[in-house]
Amino acid sequence: MRFSVAMPEDLLVRFDQLVARRGLAKNRSEVVRDLVRDALVEEDCALPGTEVVGTLTIVFDHHASDLQEKLHSIQHDYFEFIVSSMHVHLDQHMCLEVIILRGETGLVQEIANLILGTKGVQNGRLVVTTTGHFA
Ligand code: NI
Repeated sequence: MRFSVAMPEDLLVRFDQLVARRGLAKNRSEVVRDLVRDALVEEDCALPGTEVVGTLTIVFDHHASDLQEKLHSIQHDYFEFIVSSMHVHLDQHMCLEVIILRGETGLVQEIANLILGTKGVQNGRLVVTTTGHFA
């Protein structure tokens, strides 16, 4: 189905720059569809009861007291919702961990907050998406 949109010229110029950054494989229409899907996914992820998949990336110093043990313990408490995790040693002190979570959106965010709120976790971010299917 066709759908045309009026757009101010300066916005269109910036949009075309975005299209160019996404490479040759995507044209304006495809990038518009991607942006619409992004917005819908974001909206769905905010709806209580929605099943989401999340990647939580954290950075921490493994020397920090019993941090590793605490992080491990949280992951065992919620093992049904933790699909996988990957640990990377960044240098002699710092570690990066990517934890993949799957479950109801509120619960996934709660588990992520527990991990992010653990003393010694220096920074991190949860990125969620739906398991939904779009055209
Ligand atoms: Ni490490």
